[in-house]
Formats: sequence, C-alpha cells, structure tokens
Amino acid sequence: MKPLKGIRVLDLTHAHAGPICAYYLGAMGADVVKIEPLWGEMTRMFPPLVKGLSPYFAFLGRCKRGVTLDLKKPRGKELFEELVKKSDVVLENFSPGTMDRLGLGWDRLRELNPGIVYASISGFGHTGPWRDYRSYDPIAQAASGFMWLMRDVVDPEGDYYVAPEAIADTVPGFTALIGVLAALYSRHETGVGDRVDVAQLDSMIAIQQSVSFWNLAGMTFTQAIKGAGPSVYGLYEACDGWVMLSLTAGRITDNFMELSGIDELEVERIAEWVKRYTVSEVIEVLSRNGVPVAPVDDLDMVQENVQARARGMFVEVDDPRAVSYTHLTLPTN
Ligand SMILES: CC(C)(COP(=O)(O)OP(=O)(O)OC[C@H]1O[C@@H](n2cnc3c(N)ncnc32)[C@H](O)[C@@H]1OP(=O)(O)O)[C@@H](O)C(=O)NCCC(=O)NCCS
Repeated sequence: MKPLKGIRVLDLTHAHAGPICAYYLGAMGADVVKIEPLWGEMTRMFPPLVKGLSPYFAFLGRCKRGVTLDLKKPRGKELFEELVKKSDVVLENFSPGTMDRLGLGWDRLRELNPGIVYASISGFGHTGPWRDYRSYDPIAQAASGFMWLMRDVVDPEGDYYVAPEAIADTVPGFTALIGVLAALYSRHETGVGDRVDVAQLDSMIAIQQSVSFWNLAGMTFTQAIKGAGPSVYGLYEACDGWVMLSLTAGRITDNFMELSGIDELEVERIAEWVKRYTVSEVIEVLSRNGVPVAPVDDLDMVQENVQARARGMFVEVDDPRAVSYTHLTLPTN
C-alpha cells in the first residue's frame, strides 16, 4: 500500500515549483486533484508540443487527476470550497495575495476545514518587503547567491550561468513537500491543520553549505575543495571518455594509491594513470576496490545505466495522445 493513500490534495499549482511537489505527493499515493483555470495550466502549452503533449507537462503532470474550475465565478468557488471540506491539503504557488483576492486565503480555508494543511510556494515568501515580487527559477538562482556560486565553480572572473533543471524550483518544491508531510504528521496529534509558507529564496539559501564556509573561513565550498588539493575530487580523461573521481583522505586514498602505484597524489600523475585505461576499465578496477568513481554520462547513456535500470527508474509509457516514450518513475524503493 502506498503511504499517502487516503490523503486528498487540491493542487492549484502552476509552472514547476508547485507541480513537482504535487507529483511526489501523488506518486506516494495521495489523490492529487489538479485544478486548472479554464485556459489550462501554463506547462500544458510549453513548447515543443509532441502531438499536442508538452514534454514539460508530461514530466510535471504525472500521478494527478485533472479538473478545470473558474475560481473567480461563484459556482467555481463554491465547488472548490466543497472540495476543501473533503480534502487534507491545499497546495498553491501563485504570487502572494492571490488566494486572499479569490477569498480563499488561510483564514477561509481553515474555517471550511480546521484539519486542512495549506501550503504555498512563492518567490520570496508571504511576509517581508519582497513578498509581492513574482519569481521564476532563474530569479531565485540569482537572488540566493546560487548563480554566483555556479560562476565560482567554473571561473570566478567569467560569466554567470543558470544551473539546469530548474534547481530553484525543485528545491522549494521538495521543501514544501517536507513541510506538508510534517504538517500531516503533526495533525495526527493535534487534529488541526497548519500553514506552510515556503519561499524559493529561503529554500535556495538553506541548501548552501558555502554560507557556513564563507562566514567561518572566508571561502566558498568550491574554494575549500580546491584548497584541499587533487585528493578530494576531480575529472580525468580516460582513453575513450571522462571519469569523475572522489578520493577522500583515509582508506579510499590508500586503496587508490596502492592499486595505481602512485605514491604522491598529484593531478598530473592521476591523469597519466587514468589515461592508460578505458572508462569501463577505470570504473571496474576502482569501484571494486572501494574508490568512488563514475563515468560522465549524457542523457542517452544515463538511460542505459544498468544500475538505474535495475532499480526501475524508467518505464515505457504508451500515451494515446503522443508517441510511446520512456518516462521516469518515483526514485524511492
Ligand atoms: C509564476 C508567477 C511568476 C506567474 O505570475 P502570473 O502569471 O502573474 O500569475 P499569478 O500567480 O500572479 O496570478 C495567477 C492569476 O490567475 C488566476 N487563476 C489561477 N487559477 C485560476 C482558476 N482556476 N480560476 C480563475 N482564476 C485563476 C489567479 O486568481 C490570478 O489572477 P489575479 O492576478 O487576477 O489575482 C507567479 O505565480 C509567482 O511568482 N509564483 C510564485 C513563485 C513560483 O512558484 N514561481 C514559479 C516557479 S516555476
């Protein structure tokens, strides 16, 4: 049985940060009812459309039931309020103030259902001087210091980069997921719901160990790793591709030095050793000897990864609207 069976989530979310949270709730067994405006949620239209299906919606729309409701019309609002009475969670990531303007803010929701958990994700939170500012992933990457840290990894004097895969949506989405699960857990004790207010800015600041390195030691985490020498981690070129090595001090480094015959860890000597072998040879010998190592794979290679396949990470989908394609599954076993 799935752990969230019996929990109903009213999912008003759009774009990425809210929908990814709702997906995980659905994949863990919650009945997620995705409530869209009559014009459809924005990722449905995100290009390119493949036989009418957006790859973005295919990714974010999983494990949900769908319905449209015009929340600005009395009948739509009335139906939504009926659903609130029969549900456990309301999840939204509109700009702050939107739910209040709809007459569906926290006070109204808990009046309808004292057990409701109401979770919001927004750019900067529902309090504070930036509360009304709208945001998307790159906005949060820029404001949180994350973009500056990305540049620090590549070239501290060079260009800024936007990290891929909407990291500043996924992290707040997961933060909201934690908040929702904690609120549902505490409801067992108290019998009452709770308000979860997650900001992209806060969530992205909260994952940065560099803040601790910066304030205590005046350096970023990347700078600390570089200062620790080649024995921490690095990319090396084998004769047919690249490998990533993590050589932390202790038995991992001892094992590496013994089997490579390198008596002093220097970048040039590690590079020379790796270059003699193929990627699979390096992986075979190092991983069998307890040294963390991986190939640097592209998306096709990742989907051929025997380990990810053995763990059931991929599933073949036969979508009546689009071509059959390979899709992802929930990454917990
Ligand atoms: C993503 C974002 C920038 C989009 O901004 P936007 O397109 O101006 O959308 P808003 O959230 O401000 O407003 C949505 C509007 O649609 C309306 N709407 C949404 N669902 C509706 C429904 N089912 N029926 C009727 N109206 C609906 C809302 O009432 C609101 O209308 P209003 O502005 O007249 O009050 C903004 O929602 C935001 O900053 N969200 C928080 C951060 C976030 O999650 N960003 C996305 C990360 S991927």
